Amino acid sequence: MSDSDERKRLAALRAEINQHNFRYYVLDRPTVPDAEYDALMRELEAIEAEHPDWITPDSPTQTVGALPSHAFETVEHQVPMLSLDNAFDADEFAAFDRRVRERLGRDEPVRYLSEPKFDGLAISLTYEGGILARAATRGDGRRGEDVTDNVRTIETVPFSIDLPADSRIEIRGEVVMTHESFAELNRRAERRGEKVFANPRNAAAGSLRQKDPRVTASRPLHFFAYGIGAVDGIDVPETQSGWLDWLEQLGFSVAEHRDRVEGLDEARAFHASLGEKRAGLAFDIDGVVYKVDSLADQQRLGFVARAPRWAIAWKFPAEEKLTQIRDVEFQVGRTGALTPVARVEPVAVGGVTVANITLHNMDEIERKDVRIGDWVRVRRAGDVIPEIIEVLPEKRPDDARRIELPANCPECGSEVLRDEEQAVARCTGGLFCPAQRREAIRHFASRKAMDIDGLGEKWITLFLERNLVEHVDDLFRLDRDDLVALPRMGAKSADNLLESLEKAKQTTLDRFLFALGIPLVGSETADELAKHFRDLQALREAAFEDFIEHKGVTGIGPKRAESLQDWLAEHKADGSAALHEAFAEDRPVGVDEKTLARLEEAFPTLADMQRAAEKGQLQNETITKVPGIGPEIAKSIVAFFKQDHNNEVIDGLLDAGIHWPTPEAPADDAPLTGKTFVITGTLPNMTRDEASDRLTALGAKVTSSVSKKTTALIAGEAGGSKLDKANKLGVPVLDAEAFARLLDDPSAAPG
Ligand code: IVH
Repeated sequence: MSDSDERKRLAALRAEINQHNFRYYVLDRPTVPDAEYDALMRELEAIEAEHPDWITPDSPTQTVGALPSHAFETVEHQVPMLSLDNAFDADEFAAFDRRVRERLGRDEPVRYLSEPKFDGLAISLTYEGGILARAATRGDGRRGEDVTDNVRTIETVPFSIDLPADSRIEIRGEVVMTHESFAELNRRAERRGEKVFANPRNAAAGSLRQKDPRVTASRPLHFFAYGIGAVDGIDVPETQSGWLDWLEQLGFSVAEHRDRVEGLDEARAFHASLGEKRAGLAFDIDGVVYKVDSLADQQRLGFVARAPRWAIAWKFPAEEKLTQIRDVEFQVGRTGALTPVARVEPVAVGGVTVANITLHNMDEIERKDVRIGDWVRVRRAGDVIPEIIEVLPEKRPDDARRIELPANCPECGSEVLRDEEQAVARCTGGLFCPAQRREAIRHFASRKAMDIDGLGEKWITLFLERNLVEHVDDLFRLDRDDLVALPRMGAKSADNLLESLEKAKQTTLDRFLFALGIPLVGSETADELAKHFRDLQALREAAFEDFIEHKGVTGIGPKRAESLQDWLAEHKADGSAALHEAFAEDRPVGVDEKTLARLEEAFPTLADMQRAAEKGQLQNETITKVPGIGPEIAKSIVAFFKQDHNNEVIDGLLDAGIHWPTPEAPADDAPLTGKTFVITGTLPNMTRDEASDRLTALGAKVTSSVSKKTTALIAGEAGGSKLDKANKLGVPVLDAEAFARLLDDPSAAPG
């Protein structure tokens, strides 16, 4: 054997022995007889005896037992693991294809590799010298978690592949669980009274995150390779389809249903055909991924933000099923809102068994004309929350019953009122209603709020029944003797609960604010409030104007502002004239009586109005001073802190010793401080709210209308009137791409 062949054999032997060690020591499930293992070991020792300089400290001859574990340490991906843009119909796919061809400057069809979008979780495998050295989850795309020990238990992940000794490669793919394994796993869990998984993807993810690889090994997972990250010392094929063939030859599972398609018709046909096969596959897929086949073209296309321009996931429409409504019950929430919930004949939809479906409110019931006994078509919205799409009137049984809003709260008997404007019906019991109190306390104790371990619904209900607790601050005054005296509590649980309560006292301002249950304030809003006010007292004293500023004159929208500008241009000469006289002579078009009166009130003379117009102060604008907090939320916050009983509870909580560190001040030197942006149109990769959050996080202000002071207009597709205005005023316009570059490098923002 040549030296290089011998080195290769050495590496392969080490890999194989390591794998056997792992099976033997960690999994307790050896797959070869001892004699075979010994033979491999002897061969390795022989090579190392001949070449003592090849011995490394991690050789199985130098170590005892299994490999060292690096479980869940952070691993940096050499090439980031990107995500994919989505298309939801043929038009969106066609738009993607058009963009690709435009960028490549090509009229003829582009060739795509098409394959399933596996519904599992992405991992990256690093092979060094052909030996599996590391496996990591995708994490945030740049860094993931080391799950090598767990991935070694997956039979379709080869522990050694035939590659040069000095090579290194990252192989990317998806870990999935088959329907069969999933059902078996849940049956087992049910028998043992353990938690069942909602779907195979969660089960696969949960299995990979096990601390004990033996648990992972007991849950059959499958790995499909679909790509390559960093490569060193190997010539890999130059097309996406070539990669897959090559990976298959190396011993990986790759998508069986894959093809190269050219043009829209072929792409559509592949989508339709895989859609038909979907139900018969052994595992979940949720769409087709199309990737420009040529790697050279991929390079030219590059990527935006976190997704490549050369690939798209064309999702399948959500799965739909038929089922029957057995009953409708009304649940009382934290704010007293009564939510109708349909109890349906359980059905499996998109891999999850659905038995309860929210009907949201009475309006929704009336709109869809839902009755008890009806057959309904259901799906999971965004593949998560189950919803009723429609009733099948032809299947309505004769005894179907209308759903009536109860006159009295099902929990406390108080009157139920239905707000005519809002669709919501509410129990008027307030904190007298045990359901509202229970939900308020449950919310307070929940993970994202005060995170009080061990305080579940059962205990809360019992505390309320026994009058041990009325409001959340009473939790911190619970007496150990009272607790121990409760049925099923015992000294140990009581001590644990008291300890959790003690621990929860050290919190953060945003958690505390979220925990208070201020209507419309979710955890993200709470976070913004904490960052902005930094101090509870400042927030308690804040007025509406501290959140929202109104600029300009009521009734002046962008159209009227423009019309007024034109009018002013024609009346430049008559500056000192009183406004009402000027209007009497020549009225601006499209501005009604009432608005003219408002203008006259705001600006005594024409010159006053001219000055305001120059500063862009005519148009009515709502400026939010705290990111993400509009007038509705602001009103709700101010109203909440005005109520005496809320303040009593808050003081009670502070007296009990709840405390938090002062949140860090937002950096003054944030790169976009002092800059103002307006966003319009549709951006390909994020919603306008997300775009706004990204900008405010960098210190920028985001307003709703373009003026001379606007730093730049971010214009997605179909910009409209704001775009015209920006062009007119000479405000720089950034398209989606330029915006992505700005987020990457805010220092390059327009001046
Ligand atoms: S390619 C740059 N191919 O989808 C391309 N991803 O939304 C990035 N996924 O995190 C991935 N099946 O977990 C690719 N055939 C497939 C896939 C696939 C499933 C997942 C993957 C990724 C996510 C992106």
